[in-house]
Amino acid sequence: MTILNFGSVNIDYVYRVDHLVRPGETIASSDYQQFSGGKGFNQSIALARAGAAVSHAGRVGEEGVWLRAQLAAEGAGVEYLEVIDGPSGHALIQVDARGENAIILFGGANRTFTPDDATAILSHFGPGDWLLLQNEISAMPEILRLAGARGLRVVFNPAPMGVEVLDYPLDGVSIFVLNEVEGEAFTGASEPEAILAGMRRRFPAATVVLTLGAAGAIYDDGNQRIRVPAQKVEVVDTTAAGDTFIGYFLARLSAGDDPRSALEIATRAAAICVTRPGAAPSIPHRNEI
Ligand code: RIB
Repeated sequence: MTILNFGSVNIDYVYRVDHLVRPGETIASSDYQQFSGGKGFNQSIALARAGAAVSHAGRVGEEGVWLRAQLAAEGAGVEYLEVIDGPSGHALIQVDARGENAIILFGGANRTFTPDDATAILSHFGPGDWLLLQNEISAMPEILRLAGARGLRVVFNPAPMGVEVLDYPLDGVSIFVLNEVEGEAFTGASEPEAILAGMRRRFPAATVVLTLGAAGAIYDDGNQRIRVPAQKVEVVDTTAAGDTFIGYFLARLSAGDDPRSALEIATRAAAICVTRPGAAPSIPHRNEI
């Protein structure tokens, strides 16, 4: 059983600011750092640090070769992580005094996948394997369709959420992991209970994991509803908290843990992540949980 994570790889340019910049405003940053990131990359790092066998499919430009090396050094498979001509994906990230962020994405290499590329990569995977997806790469509808046809178990994190997601072929998704904003986009509801009810109506066979930030997370597979609280920590930077949660949750669930313990470990991992700056480098190792 392999977990294929078909997702983005970004260079994150992170600026510390007093507050997130407002329209028409120019502000100075008090600190600047460059980190490895991308929702896909971060989730692969979290899976690898949680002890899962993960293979990452993605693309970077020449200036992103170090990201591929970093993922390989963590023990993730990089056979399907290509270096291509053209720019890598990157993110401009502001982090304010409370640790909240605002992100601008440039897709670059992440958005060069065609339906044929998706077919070639997915031909190596089949029943029993997991496919983890976010929404930062191109060819998403084809990837989802092919995954269903090949019998993969699909975990979908619809982030960043866009209107196009509503038209994706999502009936074959086994597990949705989403936050309240993404849940509202799917269901029109803003309260957790109403979001879960709306998701159940729309995707009757799917498991839904709704992350609630400081309020923890809720798991609903149609038979059982599990709620876990978040840990109380000093927040430095919330970037990659959701990615850490997803990587740890899937690593534990696919290893056979029951959903409650998978959720508890994932919330602990995410709590550690927010106490540190940056995306991928802030993701804890197993022995820290
Ligand atoms: O989830 C955090 C990530 O979102 C960052 O690493 C950034 O690259 C964007 O993809």
